Amino acid sequence: MIHPRPPEGAAADWTIPQAWECYTPAEHAMWDRLFARQSKLLPGRVVPAFLDGLDILRISRPGIPDFNELSDRLMKATGWRVVAVPGLVPDDVFFEHLANRRFVAGRFIRTPEQLDYLEEPDVFHDVFGHVPLLSHRAFADYIQAYGEGGLRALEHGAIDRLARLYWHTVEFGLIREQGELHIYGAGVVSSHGESIFALDDPSPHRIAFDLKRVMRTRYRIDDYQQNYFVIDGFDELLRETIETDFAPLYAELAKLPDIEAGELIPEDRLYTRGTQEYALKARASRPPSSAP
Ligand code: PHE
Ligand code: FE
Repeated sequence: MIHPRPPEGAAADWTIPQAWECYTPAEHAMWDRLFARQSKLLPGRVVPAFLDGLDILRISRPGIPDFNELSDRLMKATGWRVVAVPGLVPDDVFFEHLANRRFVAGRFIRTPEQLDYLEEPDVFHDVFGHVPLLSHRAFADYIQAYGEGGLRALEHGAIDRLARLYWHTVEFGLIREQGELHIYGAGVVSSHGESIFALDDPSPHRIAFDLKRVMRTRYRIDDYQQNYFVIDGFDELLRETIETDFAPLYAELAKLPDIEAGELIPEDRLYTRGTQEYALKARASRPPSSAP
């Protein structure tokens, strides 16, 4: 695979200094505003382990967390660190960091115009969304195993399949605890609108997690998800993904058709059959787009 070299000023592994002292008061205020809005909304909706992890984020100063301070705390909890990168990095670089328990995060923060929607993950999504659960042992191990699995998937030409697993768990996953659905995916927990939509809206399907099914399922990158996959616990997710050799799965999946976002298959175990009303309305006003 050909990929560009790290941009000017970045190290060979694409990391850059966070330069925490360079953030402006307005940038810190933006973090505080997003933080306050989400932390008010999340209790009762988010998996309790996320709230435990949030304590790790409540570092001494308000404003955008200093990655060094954050890393010290995370290191004590689960051996993870947070490192800054200039933006999206090549797959192999991303996997290599995860496999070594380094979480890569953007350093920039969204502008007030981007309060509810932005195309590239910023420090609020990356840190508030992803880092709290990295303090949970099984989840932390899952992300490291995912990085190792990514390096293997590159050899099997199966990145698209594995990326779907990340999307439907780490970014947009739901979890059932004591009979109740909770959000845990970073794309959901860092989004005001989707934190509500993913749990309460009648539109999306909520489907029991199934590894093969998930790796066949296409997803939307431009709007709320049309289906959410529900796991029974982080230990179960970790166990199943670690114990399964994905190589034969990739070979099997290569012969099966993709499943479109919003499409159901007879084997699905449904928590909620969605009306898909939201997606149908959105489609009527603009062309659909979904990623691999
Ligand atoms: N067991 C997977 C493989 O054989 C690796 C993996 C673990 C992938 C955890 C994702 C999550 O490639
Ligand atoms: Fe993310």
